[in-house]
Amino acid sequence: MGHEFSGTVEAIGEGVTDIDVGDNAVVEPYFVCNECAPCNAGNYHLCTKMGFIGLAGGGGGLSEKVVVDRRWVHKIGDIPLDQAALIEPLSVAHHAVTRGGAKKGDVALVAGAGPIGLLVAAILKSLGVRTIVTELSEARKAKALSSGIADHVLDPSSQDVKEEVLKLTDGIGADIGFECAGVNEELNLLLDAVRPAGVIVNVSIWGQPATVDMQKLVLKEIDLRGTIAYVRDHEAVIKLVKAGKIDLKPFITGRIALDDLVSEGLRTLVEHNDTAVKILVHP
Ligand SMILES: NC(=O)c1ccc[n+]([C@@H]2O[C@H](COP(=O)([O-])OP(=O)(O)OC[C@H]3O[C@@H](n4cnc5c(N)ncnc54)[C@H](O)[C@@H]3O)[C@@H](O)[C@H]2O)c1
Repeated sequence: MGHEFSGTVEAIGEGVTDIDVGDNAVVEPYFVCNECAPCNAGNYHLCTKMGFIGLAGGGGGLSEKVVVDRRWVHKIGDIPLDQAALIEPLSVAHHAVTRGGAKKGDVALVAGAGPIGLLVAAILKSLGVRTIVTELSEARKAKALSSGIADHVLDPSSQDVKEEVLKLTDGIGADIGFECAGVNEELNLLLDAVRPAGVIVNVSIWGQPATVDMQKLVLKEIDLRGTIAYVRDHEAVIKLVKAGKIDLKPFITGRIALDDLVSEGLRTLVEHNDTAVKILVHP
C-alpha cells in the first residue's frame, strides 16, 4: 500500500548510469503495458492496463523498499524527503491545471479544498492565477487561507457562490473551474460561475454517476474536461518545488510510525478527514 512516497536509492540495476546510490528520489508509481494504442501515442497514463504501484501491487510507500524501472524514478535533489512525498498528488494537480490550460492572469474557481483542491490551487498560484476556493469545512477553509493558496474562500452553505464570483470578476465569471469535491452541487455551481467559453476540469473520481445540466454547458460553450493522474508532469513539478514556487510544508499535518497506521492514520482519514491534509508514515 501507499502510492505517494519518496525515498533514497539503495541499489541500481545493470545499465543505469544516471542515478547513484544515495540519491533521493520519488517514484511515478505506474504499471503500464507499453503496447496498447494510448501507450504507443505517448499517453501512458491512459494505458488500457494501467495500475498504480501501491494500489495494484508492487509494494509501495508502506514497505521499506520498492523496486521499479529507471523510467519511473525522478531525482529530487535537495527537496526534503517528507515534502517530496507530496510530489505525487502535486503532479495530479499539475496535470489537471495543464489539462485546463490555465495561464497567468486567469481567475480560477476551485470547488473543494481537500488535499487535491488545495494542491490544484497551489499549482495555479505558482503560475500567477487568481484563485477562488469553495469549501464547507472550517478547518479546510482556514488551511486554504493560511497556506496562501487561496485569494478568496467561499462557503456554499452560507454564501451565494455564483454571485460572489461574479462580483470578484467584474460580472464576467471565472475563466476556469476545477471540480475537486465530488459533489454534484459543485459541478452545477461551476457551470453557473464559469464565464462563457470557459473551461471546467473534473478532477473528482465519482462514487456515483453525476448529472450535468447540458443546457448550461451548451449555451455558454463550456468545455468540460476529464483529467487522470499525470503524464510527464513530475519533472516540472519538482522544478516548481525546488524553485520555491510551492511550499509543501503546510500540507503535512501529521507524522506517524507504521505501527500507528490504522489508529492515527487511516482512522483519522475515515472519521474526521477535514482535520488532516497529508499524514506521513515512516516505515
Ligand atoms: N483525477 C485524478 O487523477 C485524481 C487523483 C486523486 C484524487 N482524485 C479525486 O479528487 C477528489 C478530491 O480528492 P481529495 O483527496 O481532496 O478529497 P476530499 O474528500 O478530502 O476533499 C473533498 C473536499 O470537498 C469538500 N466539499 C464537500 N462538499 C462541498 C461543497 N458542496 N462545496 C465545497 N466543498 C465541498 C469537502 O469538505 C472536502 O474538503 C476525489 O474525488 C478524489 O478521488 C482524482
